[in-house]
Amino acid sequence: MPRLTATQRHSVRFRLNGHPVEGSAEPRMQLADFLRHELGATGTHVGCEHGVCGACTVLVDGMLTRSCLTLAVQVDGCDVRTVEGLAPERGRLSVLQAAFRRHHGLQCGFCTPGVLMSLDRYLSTNPNPTEDQLRELLSGHLCRCTGYTPIIRAAMEAAATLASSTRQEDSTHV
Ligand code: FES
Ligand code: FES
Repeated sequence: MPRLTATQRHSVRFRLNGHPVEGSAEPRMQLADFLRHELGATGTHVGCEHGVCGACTVLVDGMLTRSCLTLAVQVDGCDVRTVEGLAPERGRLSVLQAAFRRHHGLQCGFCTPGVLMSLDRYLSTNPNPTEDQLRELLSGHLCRCTGYTPIIRAAMEAAATLASSTRQEDSTHV
């Protein structure tokens, strides 16, 4: 990594939800602030700012990442995914988002972007989760409103829907 000067802004370029973006940041700027203030991508929320609450969770090169603990300059050249990239198209929700809406998996919605990012990533690699596994995953997210039960219900339903659509796809390809 090149040597950076603390008082200067440095150019940062990466792909955000599949689209190239660029801006400039001082080396100390958090990725969460860069997304929100430089790029206007305010879907990512900032709560505790020290890696505890999970509200700021995004994907960086496929890894779940606390964007409050990541510097913007660190993601130069990376692939970054945020909650804005979950919906398949404008006006349509993903399976997981729709399940959240059906089961009232959010109230104030502050924790929701991070929770959705973690669940979306988890379900993509663990299509048949147990409730205990989902509770373990959600232990990395603080939600003050829902009591977690509606979030679990939504995630279990989304997992079942995704698994059944995968089975249908498989059967049409044999
Ligand atoms: S704002 Fe990043 S974990 Fe709380
Ligand atoms: S819905 Fe309010 S903090 Fe989770």
